[in-house]
Amino acid sequence: MDERQKLRELAAWYREFAERAGNPAIWDARLRTAEELEKKAASLTERRGDMSATKTTGTAVITGASSGIGAVYADRLAKRGYDLILVARNRGRLAMLARRLESETGRSIETIPADLNDKEDLARIETTLRTNAAITLLVNNAGVGATAPLLDSDVEKMDEMIRLNVGALTRLTYAAVPGFVARGGGTLMNIASIVAISPETLNGVYGGTKAFVLALSLSLNNELAGTGVRVQVILPGAIATEFWDIAGLPVGNLRSGTVMSAEDLVDAALAGHDQGEIVTIPSLPDRTEWDAFETARRAMSVRLSTAVPAARYGIGHSNHAEA
Ligand SMILES: NC(=O)c1ccc[n+]([C@@H]2O[C@H](COP(=O)([O-])OP(=O)(O)OC[C@H]3O[C@@H](n4cnc5c(N)ncnc54)[C@H](OP(=O)(O)O)[C@@H]3O)[C@@H](O)[C@H]2O)c1
Repeated sequence: MDERQKLRELAAWYREFAERAGNPAIWDARLRTAEELEKKAASLTERRGDMSATKTTGTAVITGASSGIGAVYADRLAKRGYDLILVARNRGRLAMLARRLESETGRSIETIPADLNDKEDLARIETTLRTNAAITLLVNNAGVGATAPLLDSDVEKMDEMIRLNVGALTRLTYAAVPGFVARGGGTLMNIASIVAISPETLNGVYGGTKAFVLALSLSLNNELAGTGVRVQVILPGAIATEFWDIAGLPVGNLRSGTVMSAEDLVDAALAGHDQGEIVTIPSLPDRTEWDAFETARRAMSVRLSTAVPAARYGIGHSNHAEA
């Protein structure tokens, strides 16, 4: 293990034990020690970076990086020259991935074990996003799904899913984007799902969370025009990851020919980003189908708010005409 890795692991230890301290002063002191160790590790990385010929494209924060789609984003972004901050709950998996990517790419890979459904953990990631000006990319990927019909699902689990897929994603977006705007650049990649536009396909709460991600991304993209900040929202179909086991329907049960690998998904999503796409649907064979859908939606949107109900309801029209 090299010195940076030792410092990082020690920092992770202090962070973990900070949370267990009953006394706020001890909690604070341990956190400060963790931060100092992390700074020391980062300065060693910078020095090593100075010596290497490769140039960083900034730091990418990837949530849900311990497996599946997020782990492939980590691999591809490190290979594209990003330093990484990897977030998920599984500390061991994050550390293994970080070690592999550091040795393969020479990039600086920091891991922050965190449960995004835990307020304090989430706040720590928000602070990182707010205060680290090297961050140029946030991949909001952490998420869980459900496959059971809405009425057969446990409402507590649904609530947990909403807090992760919607609540945490929103807070992390709020933490990252103002800095991007102030610095005149940055990229937000949000992982939604095809169920955002096809809510009948899986559990309705899951579909609802992903419709939120699509709507938030489109709205932000509209608001951020001219700021230099880019937004991309990705709508994967079924992808072969642990998502399906966790959601209660192992991927082997899906119709063959409908499931893509996480590697192909991420490569297509990054190609879509390179091509300037805002909405990327890697499986959709004909891009013009989405364009037609969007054009119809936008055309209709200017007719959705009027002073009186539509004539077919027979309300208000005669009064309105008399006045
Ligand atoms: N697989 C599909 O078919 C599919 C299709 C469309 C969209 N998506 C979306 O793609 C994203 C990634 O899913 P995936 O397919 O790669 O599944 P996955 O392999 O299960 O990955 C989910 C990731 O999220 C992390 N995560 C889960 N709960 C978390 C929490 N409370 N706090 C922090 N991290 C948490 C997991 O890590 P830890 O367990 O270590 O925390 C893991 O790294 C999700 O947003 C999902 O909705 C997936």
